[in-house]
Amino acid sequence: MTAADRWKDYACVTSLFVAVASLYYAYKVKTTTLTALSPPKDGVEDLIGNTPMVRIKSLSDYTGLNVFAKMELNNPGGSAKDRVALNIIKTISSQEGIKGSSDKKNRIFEGTSGSTGISLAICCNALGYSCHISLPDDTSQEKLSLLTALGAIVNKVKPASIVDPNQYVNAAKSCSEEYTEGVGVFADQFENEANWKCHYETTGPEIYLQLNGEVDAFITGCGTGGTMAGVSRYLKEKRGDKVHIVLADPQGSGFYNRIKYGVMYDNVEKEGTRRRHQVDTLVEGIGLNRITNNFLKAENYIDDSIRITDEEAIKMAKFLCVNDGLFVGASTAINAVAVLKYAENLPKGSNVCIIACDSGSRHLSKFWKEALQVSNDLSISDII
Ligand SMILES: Cc1ncc(COP(=O)(O)O)c(C=O)c1O
Repeated sequence: MTAADRWKDYACVTSLFVAVASLYYAYKVKTTTLTALSPPKDGVEDLIGNTPMVRIKSLSDYTGLNVFAKMELNNPGGSAKDRVALNIIKTISSQEGIKGSSDKKNRIFEGTSGSTGISLAICCNALGYSCHISLPDDTSQEKLSLLTALGAIVNKVKPASIVDPNQYVNAAKSCSEEYTEGVGVFADQFENEANWKCHYETTGPEIYLQLNGEVDAFITGCGTGGTMAGVSRYLKEKRGDKVHIVLADPQGSGFYNRIKYGVMYDNVEKEGTRRRHQVDTLVEGIGLNRITNNFLKAENYIDDSIRITDEEAIKMAKFLCVNDGLFVGASTAINAVAVLKYAENLPKGSNVCIIACDSGSRHLSKFWKEALQVSNDLSISDII
């Protein structure tokens, strides 16, 4: 064989090697990177759900459990309420024929000081409805600005008890009945079946799939109770007694006593101690002193409840931010504290899932104003 022939063979083998390597690389890129990305979505409403999940290393290391956060704050409207808003609108469109249109004449009304208003405003804009939100007049400025930016009609009312016709939920219902420019629909998240059902059909199955079916505990708070009802029902159907369902409740809320002792009552309700707001906590979005349809749908699946103070939640929020880079709102912090308090009831290595409901940016002027005061050096054992 001549030197030229040897060179030819060498070039041939090298080209073959390069071709195989390129094919392998292309295959790897396609299978490991590109297929991890979902295809383009058709409208913002299609971005709702399928949220990621993250293992919280600090809490996992400390407890010996695997603590996962279901990142509902990754929804386009920044919370799990996007799922609820979308399902309420889809349901009225498909079951009652109340459709969206370019002139947005059909209008959705809701009474909410929380994330639901923002989620409804987003879904209304995406699907051709106008949106009217009644809320207490001391709702934080960041929420008011966001609703206004989204073009929602904002109706501020004085904080009042639920038996008062001017209470914001009652006000929303009356406004929907008086509306004549199109069809007015009261979203009614506390009573509406579309609320818990969307979590039963989406959030629950997603959590189950993301943990390969091995969900040993699910811990979250209740506002309407929709998340708890839908997820806990799905997980109990799949796992039975193998999954612990735990309600994390803020101070001043009645759910804790309801689960522990069957009575919806909190000490702050004693004669002469009632405050301006029924649930006396800095934590927004969870805690209540009345029973609603969505909570009733959850109640039978809940095994236990843990009460958390504002002080514990504030410290946890700062701890997660500094140690894990997780900047979360008050209700997520409550859920994380509940993990610490409930950990002793679970075998080491158990998979625990909490809901990361919304970002700290929704709570800068109230809850996070307090959390900013907490030292960066706080250790996990200082929290409870
Ligand atoms: C920030 C936040 N976390 C948690 C919840 C509780 O969710 P649910 O109403 O499904 O009980 C809410 C409800 O509005 C909320 O706004």
